[in-house]
Amino acid sequence: MKNKPQTTLIHAPRRAPQYIETVQPPLFRASTIIFNNTDALFNRHWTDAYDYSYGTHGTPTTFILGDNIAQIEGGIYSLLAPSGLSAINLVNSCFLSQGDEVWVADNIYGPNMEHLRNLESRYGISVKVYNALDVSSFNPSTKAKLIWLEATGSVTLEFPDLIGLVKKAKAQNILTALDNTWGAGLAFNAFDFGDEHLSVDMTVHALTKYPSGGADILMGSVVTRDQKLHHKLFRMHAIQGISISGDDVAQVQRSLASMQLRYEHQAHSALTLLDWLKQQTEFAQVLHPADPDSAGHEYWKDICKQGHSAGLVSVIFKPEYDMQAIRRFCDALQLFKLGFSWGGPVSLVMLYNLKEMRTLEHTHLQQGLLVRFCIGLEHPQDLIQDIENALKQMNQQLHE
Ligand SMILES: Cc1ncc(COP(=O)(O)O)c(C=O)c1O
Repeated sequence: MKNKPQTTLIHAPRRAPQYIETVQPPLFRASTIIFNNTDALFNRHWTDAYDYSYGTHGTPTTFILGDNIAQIEGGIYSLLAPSGLSAINLVNSCFLSQGDEVWVADNIYGPNMEHLRNLESRYGISVKVYNALDVSSFNPSTKAKLIWLEATGSVTLEFPDLIGLVKKAKAQNILTALDNTWGAGLAFNAFDFGDEHLSVDMTVHALTKYPSGGADILMGSVVTRDQKLHHKLFRMHAIQGISISGDDVAQVQRSLASMQLRYEHQAHSALTLLDWLKQQTEFAQVLHPADPDSAGHEYWKDICKQGHSAGLVSVIFKPEYDMQAIRRFCDALQLFKLGFSWGGPVSLVMLYNLKEMRTLEHTHLQQGLLVRFCIGLEHPQDLIQDIENALKQMNQQLHE
């Protein structure tokens, strides 16, 4: 049958072969997935992973990346979300109902806390805050459903007492969700850690950071080893209409090949900076889990047995440096760009006032304004030079 040009333009004459091997997997872009016949339509099992029925339920492209992330993290099942925060929200909306109690560390990624506070005010979910370094501050009631863990904590980079917290949660049947963005599945195995082979129930990973590595794509994942939990998450994921562009997934898949090299390079550079930062007189405290002077160091040593740490290091300036001085410092940096996030090629800096961020008193943290450095792929000596110049400029203006 010879079709008219209008139809020929739509129905391409050549089909992809059934099997052709390329280094990167083929890219599927789909809202509609075509069923071979009505049998296939009526026999579809869209709640099973790897059955294809509609774009939001997954394509080979999303399943390949999801499996890869699950494998790296030590899990089995995975779901992808359009951002790390969206993956966090998926967990919260899946497992929290009216009247439940949820526990969250004081040093958790800020927008997670904001999301939980929003649920608290609208749905009567009780949000309790604990100190990640002190298991005794985690006192769940019988209504407790979920505890959020983060290793390391956002901004202040404390490695939590993961063993103590997970043991206590498990003893009371409380679900454990770990924000695994810092470890990225490389620093430790969240599904098998400590001498007793402990495991969290699920991990959330902002793939925006190390897996993407380009500072140009937002994505998140939720990984678990438990099929029942996965199915609950899968259904919630589907009814919320969560989906991601196949193009973005393919970009992250492509970057995964170099993730460990980038992670190790950035971690190594952060350690070089750590040594130098500790010798500077402007800082009251330098925060990094591999530093024996940092709170949580012993927990880090117990779990990250191979000595892995990511590319983040924070400093607390001495109290004589006020907000104006810190802003001058940040503005004077040339290589470090002022911006949120981490894991990309360009080093980033961000300033924080801890007093406005935390609800608990933390005796291990000095008074003063905090600056977090996120190390990119530049040479660490150039980064040190950049900080040295900016400190000089800050000090010059201070004494004028
Ligand atoms: C620890 C941590 N978790 C989650 C997120 C959220 O990721 P996204 O920016 O993809 O929403 C971030 C982002 O900064 C983060 O730092």
